[in-house]
Amino acid sequence: MFDAEKFIEKTIDTLQTEIKGRALIAFSGGVDSTCSAVLANKAIGDRLIAVHVDTGYMRKNESINVKKMMEELSLNHRFIDASQEFYNALKDVKDPEKKRKIIGGNFIRIFERVAEKEGIEYLIQGTIAPDWIESGNHLRDTIKSHHNVGGLPENMKLKLVEPLREIYKDEVRKVARVLGLKISERQPFPGPGLAIRIIGEATPERTDVVREACYIVENEIEHAVDKGLMEKPWQYFAVLLPVRTVGVHGDKRAYGNIIAVRAVQSIDAMTCAYSDIPQEVLDGISTKITNTLGNKINRIVYDITNKPPSTVEWE
Ligand code: XMP
Repeated sequence: MFDAEKFIEKTIDTLQTEIKGRALIAFSGGVDSTCSAVLANKAIGDRLIAVHVDTGYMRKNESINVKKMMEELSLNHRFIDASQEFYNALKDVKDPEKKRKIIGGNFIRIFERVAEKEGIEYLIQGTIAPDWIESGNHLRDTIKSHHNVGGLPENMKLKLVEPLREIYKDEVRKVARVLGLKISERQPFPGPGLAIRIIGEATPERTDVVREACYIVENEIEHAVDKGLMEKPWQYFAVLLPVRTVGVHGDKRAYGNIIAVRAVQSIDAMTCAYSDIPQEVLDGISTKITNTLGNKINRIVYDITNKPPSTVEWE
């Protein structure tokens, strides 16, 4: 049985011993990075700087909310808008592993710039067990390179600290509850962000489409959960497919892309089962997306695969 109180006590102790100087935490505002930040803040206080990078692949309003959260948690923080840098780096890139590696590399370069400017030696990341297990090593196959593990360049100058490395999401949530964090039940959002929810090239225009679709899926499902129509899925989002199909818009022929809706139940993300979304909720999602993005999207499909053989994210 995982004892969150004991874990917190032990982790703060270890961080105090391990971190001799100033440290930077990669702060996305998710459960993992927020827990890591709060633990590190308890351990080293003002020697910690939380850095949030807006990659341009964040969900609607996310970066603004993360900024507010860093303030609420009284974290010493920096906010970096690097959208253009990420869009440029991913231009013409279609391969999922290449995308992940480029995103990981970009994050590290930005962190190294901040570190050099501010005399920081340590990089704290909210990596959890499935991240490094699925990123593979010489003993395991690489399922996908989680940006915070497989995307790390070999010549990284910063010393890496990963306080949650040995634990799983359900355990991180227990830690978050004990720490009194309001984001304890938030659905996971991958570090590479919406870039891996756009199959093919993640252009700014495509990102706007998937961002809106994700927003609609999240809202519709959350309303349905609030109304008691369904159980809250572990994760729920939209994926933009580059495939175009024929449809009809008004009385005109349309030739638009497809949005896939993904909603899954899981305990630790190592396996998952697709969620049972009631018909009326699916209807609402489909109508909202096609009404809002009608000139770009004319077909919505629902992903009915489990992990394995699939994975949670499409890339
Ligand atoms: P997969 O797609 O591998 O996802 O079944 C398992 C869980 O991990 C999240 N995920 C990531 N999280 N960096 C992260 O921090 C990543 O690169 C990454 N890729 C996937 C995914 O959303 C799911 O919760």
